[in-house]
Amino acid sequence: MCGIIGIAGKTQAVPVLLDGLEKLEYRGYDSAGVAVITDDGTLRVEKCKGRIAVLREKTDEGAPITGTTGIGHTRWATHGEPSDINAHPQMGQEGIVAVVHNGIIENYRELKQSLERSGRVFQSETDTEVVAQLMEYYYDMYHDLMDAVYAMLSRIRGSYALGILSSDAPGQIIAAKKDAPLLIGYGEGENFIASDVTALLSHTRTVSYLDDDEVAVITPESVRIYDAGRLPVTKEKHAVEWDVSSAEKGGYAHFMLKEIMEQPDAVRRTFSPRLQDSRIEFEELAGVPDLIKNISRIYLVGCGSAYHVGVVGKYMMEKLLRIPAEAVLGSEFRYCDPIVGPDTLVIVISQSGETLDSMAALREAKRRGATVLAVVNVIGSSIAREADIVIYTWAGPEIAVATTKAYSTQLVLLSMLTVYFAEKLGKISSEDYGRYVNDLSELPGKMETTLGNIGNIQKTASLSFNHDSVFFIGRNLDYALGLEGSLKLKEISYIHSESYAAGELKHGTISLMEPGVLVVTLATCSSLIEKTWSNMVEVTTRGADVLALTTEDNVSRFSEEASAILPVPSTNELLQMNLNIIPLQLFAYYVALNRGCDIDKPRNLAKSVTVE
Ligand code: M6R
Repeated sequence: MCGIIGIAGKTQAVPVLLDGLEKLEYRGYDSAGVAVITDDGTLRVEKCKGRIAVLREKTDEGAPITGTTGIGHTRWATHGEPSDINAHPQMGQEGIVAVVHNGIIENYRELKQSLERSGRVFQSETDTEVVAQLMEYYYDMYHDLMDAVYAMLSRIRGSYALGILSSDAPGQIIAAKKDAPLLIGYGEGENFIASDVTALLSHTRTVSYLDDDEVAVITPESVRIYDAGRLPVTKEKHAVEWDVSSAEKGGYAHFMLKEIMEQPDAVRRTFSPRLQDSRIEFEELAGVPDLIKNISRIYLVGCGSAYHVGVVGKYMMEKLLRIPAEAVLGSEFRYCDPIVGPDTLVIVISQSGETLDSMAALREAKRRGATVLAVVNVIGSSIAREADIVIYTWAGPEIAVATTKAYSTQLVLLSMLTVYFAEKLGKISSEDYGRYVNDLSELPGKMETTLGNIGNIQKTASLSFNHDSVFFIGRNLDYALGLEGSLKLKEISYIHSESYAAGELKHGTISLMEPGVLVVTLATCSSLIEKTWSNMVEVTTRGADVLALTTEDNVSRFSEEASAILPVPSTNELLQMNLNIIPLQLFAYYVALNRGCDIDKPRNLAKSVTVE
């Protein structure tokens, strides 16, 4: 989704803004722009539809635009089509104020009408222009920028991360935040704002996270932050440990491939610090050792792939803990009147920690008295900060829109939590506990073995990339995995794909089985392999082509009916999905590559979905 970068410094701003915007490209966008206060004290805005490369060309790499204070934006259209005019920054009609904005101003129509009645003329279809026009309206009234900011903020409803420049305040950026992430970066003689830490990594690793309703005034020498009542706020500074190289491709053709290959290391980073003397220890839960003993219902909430991890978690937790567990979509949770109380544990899963629907679910769960445990990757993100307990996945920055390593680390963390809770409840034998810990230690090695099969997967994908319709079937955990395999394929290759519980197919969808349809059969849950095999035969009988994913010891069962087999090593059933997902990710990747798709930035998608 949209991205923001801003610098108040002493060097030329536009090259810094362009580089920062490139770091934000992964979030998904359709237009981009920059605004600077030029040396002659005027605001100059350059923006265009399309990629940063177009903006680079348009601004001649920024060299001719002199000015050391500026803001930049990548826009993912919500209100108004992607176009030069609708791109940010948006200016007020007097040219005194320029604004970049992430989020949605919900009451922009009524504000626009009222401003139009007072004679203001709008250029764009965006909700953001209302902010710029309203700022100028109040600035004309009060002749004080901060008065104008607070008056403007009191009128707008919705979510926003705002970066504001005024030609009357050279060398200064004003920032404001509500329900959309915004952080401050501290440099030497230069300070920054950004929606995402990756935009700042090459300048600083010292940051503060703005909280809702705070306003910041940033100059090269100072950062002042105020609360909703205009009282000064002292913010904690955080050191960001992610390094620059982890946000670069490092020789891989795509971030997605790099992140797939990083999974053994990422998973090791997730579990190693939490394994001490062959015991699972969560420092994060040290203050609540009896948490699970007081829980009678568990919800696992997330969106997209994070929801799919929740489905895996549901199967694992119900089976081991014997506590009702339900996976719920973040976008549905608050609207389904969930049965939530003090005996409910709500596990919110999110890579970005900024997904608006997951955040809304978190707030609803807290409002109803639940304990909220967040499984999050991005440190200091909104969900991480608002949850009662946060457990970080430590996957490192994930840049490709299609999640891979974050998904894997979430999976492993949920299996660890399940075993940890099961032990607290006395519901796992010491043999099974020991076996799990041992299998966990061996997991990265088995993931590497699975990745070693890349050539076979690439070949399979090159034979399958022209199917128009692909189904994934499996039972139990394999069904949960199919949800993710199918999403991976459709989001980056644009092939129509659905995932079904294998036993459900014959209740309707089997009518679609015919030659030309591909069915990816997932069969690794040992007690269900025969049943899934039968479902596979049901579809081959109707002419569908089958690709089977199964454990190495079961390959021979499938070799007759399946046109190709993706074998995976066997492991503990709580960890098996960590191996199974690898061929599915690589299959999606190579299918998309064969189809010439924009793998890291699939059409219409954003990395972090901060609107409802
Ligand atoms: O940042 P989050 O984990 O909260 O994001 C949730 C989904 O938007 C995300 O998993 C999405 O489905 C990805 N494109 C999947 O690859």
